[in-house]
Amino acid sequence: MEKLPELLRGRDLLSLHHFTPSEISLILDTADAFRDKLKRREPHRYLEGKTLGMIFQKSSTRTRVSFEVGMYQLGGHALFLSAADLQLGRGESIADTARVLSRYLDGIMIRTYAQSDVEELARYADIPVINGLTDLLHPCQILADLQTIRQAKGRLAGLKLAYVGDGNNIAHSLLFGCAKTGVNITVASPEGYKPSPEIVSLAVQDARETGAVIRVVTDPVEAVRDADAVVTDVWASMGREAEQEARARVFARYQVNEELVRHAREDFIFLHCLPAHRGEEVTDGVIDGPHSAVWDEAENRLHVQKAVMALVM
Ligand code: CP
Ligand code: NVA
Repeated sequence: MEKLPELLRGRDLLSLHHFTPSEISLILDTADAFRDKLKRREPHRYLEGKTLGMIFQKSSTRTRVSFEVGMYQLGGHALFLSAADLQLGRGESIADTARVLSRYLDGIMIRTYAQSDVEELARYADIPVINGLTDLLHPCQILADLQTIRQAKGRLAGLKLAYVGDGNNIAHSLLFGCAKTGVNITVASPEGYKPSPEIVSLAVQDARETGAVIRVVTDPVEAVRDADAVVTDVWASMGREAEQEARARVFARYQVNEELVRHAREDFIFLHCLPAHRGEEVTDGVIDGPHSAVWDEAENRLHVQKAVMALVM
């Protein structure tokens, strides 16, 4: 087995904003190599004897299964830790939890609400911490999205991506991911649901290095026009279920349907992090149609997270 570069050893993955374009390229290249190795059934046990703890305060299908299977394929072991069952759920501090887990584990993946909780965990842990989704960001998902786009289009820089819908964690991480890789991104969201201005301004700074154009608009057609990739996500994220009905009214015009994607390039690809609410943010015709790359996208979670773990742990 060839040695992996040491560039990212010991690093946390809290936000793509903290990574340089070349560090992101290294992750994507390693992910492609791992995908090839898995298809050829070549062993790549880079994490033999190592253990990842996975703290979940929200539900998950893809993140849990891809991290757990990924760790197994890398020769290591993964532990599912429901936040409700940890002493964390009874008031033990994040700092103390981080200090203790650092004595047992080689890395922590956490899915929770507040980005500040993930940052606090990382501050007190001596081992790498990976953000498996917060209300603010979902960096692992966007690494998989970038890998999927590159796989389909052969490049990233200079492409146009349209994100249509809620200015949520997916929109925020896409802003960083596109800014860092030179993908021109237009986010179309209704008033009151636009991405955070702070995130947009950080992404604009990031984009100076790559020349990516970052735009936030209201009109979905304007975003989708000539796009190489069209991306959407649920209208009510985890924790926002009570707003579901009100949001369905506000977002009705933002459905990614056959009519809307007619404005994209002829060879566009459609991405959705999943789970999808079919008939709401996307129609069956689009998600099951010939342009959809959502199953490759879900698969790439496995490859890209294995790359992250093998590079940082
Ligand atoms: N896309 C994603 O993170 O899926 P899960 O919520 O199933 O992990
Ligand atoms: N925005 C969604 C993504 C789920 C993977 C949520 O936070 O629920």
